[in-house]
Amino acid sequence: MHHSISGKEYRMAVDTIDEGDIKDLIDWLQTGPRLTQGEVVDEFQRQWADWLGTRHAIFVNSGSSANLLMYYTLLASRALVNRKVVVPAVSWATTVAPAIQLGFEPIMCDAEPQTFGLDPNRLEDILKRDEADAVILVHVLGVPCDMEAIMSLKEKYGFYLMEDACAATGSTYDGQYVGTFGHLSSFSFYFGHHLSTIEGGMICTNDSRLKAIMLQLRSHGWGKDLSREEEAWQAREYRIDGFNRPFTFYYPGFNLRSTDLNARIGLSQMKKLDEVIARRIENHKVYQENLRPESGFLLQQNDRAEICSIACVALAQSTAHRARVTEDLARHGVETRPLGGGNMSRQPFWRRDLPEQEFPVADRIAATAFQLPTHPAHSPADIRTICDIAMNAIADGLSAA
Ligand SMILES: Cc1ncc(COP(=O)(O)O)c(C=O)c1O
Repeated sequence: MHHSISGKEYRMAVDTIDEGDIKDLIDWLQTGPRLTQGEVVDEFQRQWADWLGTRHAIFVNSGSSANLLMYYTLLASRALVNRKVVVPAVSWATTVAPAIQLGFEPIMCDAEPQTFGLDPNRLEDILKRDEADAVILVHVLGVPCDMEAIMSLKEKYGFYLMEDACAATGSTYDGQYVGTFGHLSSFSFYFGHHLSTIEGGMICTNDSRLKAIMLQLRSHGWGKDLSREEEAWQAREYRIDGFNRPFTFYYPGFNLRSTDLNARIGLSQMKKLDEVIARRIENHKVYQENLRPESGFLLQQNDRAEICSIACVALAQSTAHRARVTEDLARHGVETRPLGGGNMSRQPFWRRDLPEQEFPVADRIAATAFQLPTHPAHSPADIRTICDIAMNAIADGLSAA
């Protein structure tokens, strides 16, 4: 990044773990806790589920692990009638990767031009043609997908829905939190996300059977994290004698656990969740008010949503125009980023074995989108300054074009 003209810098991600969190962690460490996954993880899961309003929450070591576990839980539950899964072209590598790793047949779907989430019309074409039994969607950078249309397709075609809400903590659609629409949902607590546990992820569900399978898949496949009744029921079912019960592996599992240390940071972060959400929503609104379509930028949008974004995405008019605007922003100390991986079918990991595909909306996003900071370290006044810089940059860009 260039040195800023004004000396002030507006960064995409500033550490969310602050001095208070560190002090809390040190005080707690001095009490000599066990550190590995235990009762602090249980408490963090409980608080997260209570906040979101799902029956269950399961803490894992990253958002990517959460996605992996969602996919594999659907397989392990034997709920799927086929292995076809619809994946979004505008997403993240590890939203799509588990489909490849686990032998699904991924079918990629273009984005909808407003929300940048799955396009319900393209999704229906795929469902009619391929009868996919699972769909994963992403609420891209916090903007909810068109959930009414997607939920009515779910009703009509009966697929399992996974929601990748890794960058969307706190966003609502028609007043309902994202991460509560699907059978399973994932969140990420990586550095710079809404909350951070250093690394971390959460899977949420209302389905107790899927939850029980996940608890086992998270830890080697054994039953130790189940309730006493669930574990006893399985031991009876498989005729396991008492001595061997603790080392009985019911599923071909992973180890995707986090630790009480990370959960302790998570609990400390939960205390400022409401404030973080309010600030990110407010910051996002400042962009929406100032970078209106007539400004020359197109912002990602969902009129039925409160958007608690991880960043605000704007589309420039062309790749060259984006280059001019982002360079101008950088000169003024405003950090920008491209939007993740663009059209995922053009990424090498996909092209290795699967066909690259043309997706008009995803390709346009890849060519012209850039992210602007909504991090709560920035005040609404800071965001207004960023908007002014962007507007001046676009005016320069247009006159230079
Ligand atoms: C949409 C989406 N899904 C999944 C992930 C992966 O989360 P993590 O970095 O915690 O593995 C990210 C990461 O930023 C993401 O943006």
